[in-house]
Amino acid sequence: MDPVKPGPLATTEESSAVERDTLTLIDNRTGKKYEVRISQGTIRALDLRQIKLDQDDFGLMSYDPAFTNTVSCKSRITFIDGDRGILRYRGYPIEELAEKSTYLETAYLILYGELPTRQQLEDWTYRVSHHTFIHESIKKFLDGFHYDAHPMGMLISTIAALSAFYPEAKDVFNADSRRKQIWRLIGKMPTVAAFAYRHSLGMPYVYPDNELSYTGNFLNMLFRMTELRYRPNPTVERALEVLFILHADHEQNCSANTMRNVGSSHADPYSATAAACAALYGPLHGGANEEVLRMLMEIGSLGRVPEYIKRVKAGEKKLMGFGHRVYKNYDPRAKIIKHIADEVFEVTGRNPLREIALECERIALQEDYFVSRKLYPNVDFYTGLIYQSMGFPVTMFPVLFAIARTAGWVAQWEEMLLDPEQKIARPRQVYCGHEQRSYIPIQQRGL
Ligand code: CMC
Repeated sequence: MDPVKPGPLATTEESSAVERDTLTLIDNRTGKKYEVRISQGTIRALDLRQIKLDQDDFGLMSYDPAFTNTVSCKSRITFIDGDRGILRYRGYPIEELAEKSTYLETAYLILYGELPTRQQLEDWTYRVSHHTFIHESIKKFLDGFHYDAHPMGMLISTIAALSAFYPEAKDVFNADSRRKQIWRLIGKMPTVAAFAYRHSLGMPYVYPDNELSYTGNFLNMLFRMTELRYRPNPTVERALEVLFILHADHEQNCSANTMRNVGSSHADPYSATAAACAALYGPLHGGANEEVLRMLMEIGSLGRVPEYIKRVKAGEKKLMGFGHRVYKNYDPRAKIIKHIADEVFEVTGRNPLREIALECERIALQEDYFVSRKLYPNVDFYTGLIYQSMGFPVTMFPVLFAIARTAGWVAQWEEMLLDPEQKIARPRQVYCGHEQRSYIPIQQRGL
């Protein structure tokens, strides 16, 4: 905390810039004037605590359900300008990374702040790819699920179970241990995800192949049948790589915030990642890609789009894959995805739901309901169409998001742990319940 004592207002032009970087507040309840420092466009919520009715008063707090205007951390990882539709990882525009980078290179950048040298990338790739195997007991664990278990449920619980396999992960302030758990998490997520998928089909598990790329190996573990060596289709492999890059981080979203929250109690990174996966699973977050596909299937034909949009405007439905807390402009990821969708469709054949999606977008972008609320397609609007064309069942869509987002989660987790300003996350509340009252024996409570 860096409280600023109440002081005189800077009124003259000669006042220094530092003195002018303050906010003056007048408490009309007491007539007292306070000055708090403004730094990087924020005031410290704790500075409000000095504003009191009297000495017994706890002090003023800010009320912000869902953190719509609260900064919870300082971060150097991802930059978003929601009004201008800008997304950068460590300063690099998402468009450039999507065109030129690979998922593992981008994951390294997100974690360590710089693009790797050739040697660093080789070493990083070796480390991640040599941590892709999972303990054979984990397979037994997966076998316990019903064939129709949602793969996201399997992923969440299996990642949590890894915490029991690597007890040294609890040592969160040991840099060597952290590094190893990060290799393991990024390496094992695709394996657990692929095994969950194979389990749902009743198919034998396919073990990792280190000769393949990160996404190539994932496709191998998902789709290999009787062939001796699986050869991924290069267009599909690259498209998945780009999708993973686009999903790798997105600053303080619901799941990253969960990762930081759980990590702030110094829980091990497997437990925190399982919690982040659970946050991602919801239909308002990473589960939206699954919901978009279900919605497009429900609409069913071009002619029924206007009727659906009417229901959205009447508040009966949501247009899934539209809207964003931060983007009030076209999501830059959605633009890239629209482009790669066409490349994938050239290989896999056009997805018939594509025309319905385009029509929803065309109508929505003209309607005042969406325009006035600045609702544009987000990353999830077109991803489902691509995933479906690649052969993934809808239930696997959020799982794909989770694999890619792991790089961001572990980077956010480590940044939080090493930030001396961070403590256990613990918001305040406004208590609106009963005042103290006496216990009533059950016999006296009526029927
Ligand atoms: N369809 C219809 N109306 C919408 C939608 C939508 N998809 N999104 C927002 N609105 C309306 C909302 O009803 C509200 O209207 P009003 O002012 O009349 O009450 C207004 O727009 C503002 O919405 P909000 O709910 O206050 O916005 P939020 O920032 O709390 O929610 C959101 C953001 C992403 C949860 C929301 O836009 C939404 O539910 N979208 C659909 C789900 C979705 O696609 N989620 C994926 C997000 S991108 C991937 C990720 O990062 O997870």
